Amino acid sequence: MSDEVFDICVIGAGPGGYHAAIRAAQYGAKVALIEKDRVGGTCLNRGCIPTKALYASAKLLEEIEEKASSLGIEVGNIKADFAKVVERKNKVVQELVSGIEALLKQHRISLFNGIGSLVGGQDMNFKIKVEGKDNVEITAKKVIIATGSKPAMIPAFNIDHERILTSDDILDPNFKIVPKKLLIIGAGVIGCEFANIFRRMGAEIEMLEYLPTPIATEERLVIRELTKKFESLGIKIHVNQNVLKVENTGNGVKAITCSASVPRDQIDSAEKTEFTADYCLVSIGRARVSEDLNCEAMGIKTERGQIVVDKKTLETDCKGVYAIGDVTGGIMLAHVASYEGDIAVANALAAIGGFDVEPQEPDYSVVPATIFTSPEIGSVGLREKQAKEKGHKILTGRFGYAALGKAKCMGEEEGFMMIIADAESDKILGASCIGAEAPELIAEVALAMKNGLKVHDIAHTIHSHPTISEMVLETAEDVHGMAIHKKGRRR
Ligand code: NAI
Repeated sequence: MSDEVFDICVIGAGPGGYHAAIRAAQYGAKVALIEKDRVGGTCLNRGCIPTKALYASAKLLEEIEEKASSLGIEVGNIKADFAKVVERKNKVVQELVSGIEALLKQHRISLFNGIGSLVGGQDMNFKIKVEGKDNVEITAKKVIIATGSKPAMIPAFNIDHERILTSDDILDPNFKIVPKKLLIIGAGVIGCEFANIFRRMGAEIEMLEYLPTPIATEERLVIRELTKKFESLGIKIHVNQNVLKVENTGNGVKAITCSASVPRDQIDSAEKTEFTADYCLVSIGRARVSEDLNCEAMGIKTERGQIVVDKKTLETDCKGVYAIGDVTGGIMLAHVASYEGDIAVANALAAIGGFDVEPQEPDYSVVPATIFTSPEIGSVGLREKQAKEKGHKILTGRFGYAALGKAKCMGEEEGFMMIIADAESDKILGASCIGAEAPELIAEVALAMKNGLKVHDIAHTIHSHPTISEMVLETAEDVHGMAIHKKGRRR
């Protein structure tokens, strides 16, 4: 048992947890951080970062294969060495993990390695046990749970981590194979990002998706553009597929499906389709990780594994215990977890008193999201359909990369940006973009939306020329039919 009393104990050192720990330390709090694995969580070790490192190699390969020659650069025989691609990815991850460890040290955060669980006490005097490399009991005034999520498992999919894999398996430092054929179940964000990477690396790809479209939550026209691109790359997306079973056949995999429209009680007699491949990736969503925390005994309410929090404070049903990020069942994005870390820290420290911070309420009205396929996708706020359903009279601006000088110079003519605005107030309701730097462009719209700016405010901001950022300017101008470089007369 450690004699120290921490102001805050954070359980889980992913992008929610380590961010919260550093933020609390910045305010002068004494912080303990418990992690059973490496710091950085899913995002850094098995998610955003390793996929983006693989994506960078895939993107470079694409540029050499598809663009170099048209830009006047002749390249000899090119070949991707996937083992080297993976080694570089591992190095990127390792360096960033070390960077976070150094930051934690610099902020004098006590990092404990092991599984953390709440074993007793109450607000201002919680007891937290660490079991693993470190075996210790900690006392803390407040607790922030940030234990994240893991790939969802369905028994009938027989995930064996050998042939039938999750994203954790594919991003394992030792997974260095490009399958001859990869079957991907779930054409959501993870499925589409891996389809793009492995297709570029030479794998044949087939995707099985339950819904009528891939990445179903994105803007309709964006989905159409990505589907078109995937088709041109030879990626086959089979939609409306109810995957009934996946099996390891020894030297490959086999999946059996029926149409998603078949009622449950008629599945046995329904027509079945068989798909085969060398390997299968199951990317059908993620499950929350709350089982080791001793929630029930501490009076922390959970619903199917997700920790229930007060939407205004992020406090759980146990006073003094907060939860942030994927484990709460909210929006499963690293940047949302970090943002919630700030909120929980502010509320916890304000409740302790003596720290220069006020209580805060989260605001989820402006959450940018990105998908690193090629072309890249970025979106924020409402989609066109949602805006109409909410009763807005809308105006829409759309501008294509092909008409933008800088994009043409770069050979990046694919895709478009779209801004949806409220016709009466001129406020921006949402934006979607598919094309070069889309995730970066969306950041400008997010800043505008968060600050209640109007379409007019973007259109009257001088954007540097020639830049890709002019996509935002021209799209904003097109909301009122005033884009300079768009053909057609003002509506
Ligand atoms: P997801 O929810 O994005 O996609 C899962 C897909 O699988 C959906 O299209 C769903 O309809 C389909 N599906 C579900 N059950 C199925 C079944 N039995 N058969 C066939 N299809 C089925 O989940 P995903 O891709 O696993 O990603 C998990 C989380 O990670 C998401 O919340 C995502 O936002 C986040 N993420 C974010 C990234 C980014 O910000 N760039 C990158 C990767 C993941």
